[in-house]
Amino acid sequence: MANTTLMMIKPDAVENGHIGNILQKVTSAGFQIKALKLTQLAKSDAERFYAVHSERPFYPELVAFMSRGPIVAAVLEKENAVVDFRNLIGATNPVEAAEGTIRKLYATSIGENAVHGSDSDENAAIEAAFHFAGRECF
Ligand code: CMP
Repeated sequence: MANTTLMMIKPDAVENGHIGNILQKVTSAGFQIKALKLTQLAKSDAERFYAVHSERPFYPELVAFMSRGPIVAAVLEKENAVVDFRNLIGATNPVEAAEGTIRKLYATSIGENAVHGSDSDENAAIEAAFHFAGRECF
């Protein structure tokens, strides 16, 4: 059965001109785009989205990075979407990411790692609702 995940193309990858290449890899891997937008997070949005990391030492850096410029948010559908998308993007740290993964190709550091993928079906639904109204999802 098809399920969904939430992708963000992060500010570093947008700044570096990788939106098109990343969307191409995503659709070539069999994901269907159910919602898509170019948007920018306010600092308070980034704080809310990453609240689970609020006690981590990198939290202020993460919030500043994720709100510094536009991102692309998308809801992606595929069988086994959460796990398959995390395999497609690769490890959090691009140094550890497998060859051919999106982070290996386009990320520059563990902090500026090009893309986000939900870590569970439950969080995929929460994160989709964070970014999209019902009428924006198809
Ligand atoms: P992501 O998995 O999309 O969501 C949490 C983010 O926190 C992660 O990507 C990284 O961008 C960031 N992050 C995780 N670990 C570190 C770290 N050690 N230093 C800086 N940023 C980090």
